[in-house]
Amino acid sequence: MTPSPATAAVRVRRAELSDLDDLVALEQATFDHDQISRAQYRRHLDSDTARVLVASANHRRFLGTALVFFRKGSRVARLYSIASLPEARGKGVGTALIEAVEAATRQRRGHAVRLEVRTDNHSAVRLYERLGYQRIGPVLKGFYEDGSDAYRFEKSLA
Ligand SMILES: CC(C)(COP(=O)(O)OP(=O)(O)OC[C@H]1O[C@@H](n2cnc3c(N)ncnc32)[C@H](O)[C@@H]1OP(=O)(O)O)[C@@H](O)C(=O)NCCC(=O)NCCS
Repeated sequence: MTPSPATAAVRVRRAELSDLDDLVALEQATFDHDQISRAQYRRHLDSDTARVLVASANHRRFLGTALVFFRKGSRVARLYSIASLPEARGKGVGTALIEAVEAATRQRRGHAVRLEVRTDNHSAVRLYERLGYQRIGPVLKGFYEDGSDAYRFEKSLA
């Protein structure tokens, strides 16, 4: 029997080349627009200014991912994308990924994490607010490829 993610410890690690199939499949299943391509993921895996994280349980069972960018000269990290498998949601995977993003940011002496999220993405907004993210600035009109609006959130790690 395969234990459910709720009973298995969720671990977060850096993504590897062998994760590419899972990363691309989740991206395609999750997002209709603004998709990260396989080639982009491959580049991000090798980049100094990007970190691709993978949440897994039970011997590498893939559960979700987060992509964060660290710009040179900036101490604010940007959480660009986060997703967990539909069947693994509501079990702490997203929370574990965000905590790992914050740890990676601190490791690089970053002092804040910033992100954008669709204004109608209520589950993501709730997750960010629960973890201490605060809305900053005005609504970003037409931020996404399909014309939908975004909120910008930030959490200070100080
Ligand atoms: C947003 C998203 C990443 C959240 O991931 P998740 O794995 O469901 O996140 P969590 O399980 O940590 O948190 C979700 C909820 O489950 C609850 N939860 C966490 N662990 C739990 C557990 N063991 N038992 C019961 N509930 C739990 C959390 O309290 C949280 O509640 P909230 O909605 O009040 O915040 C996920 O819904 C997703 O992939 N959505 C599609 C992609 C997307 O929209 N990404 C964000 C924009 S880029």
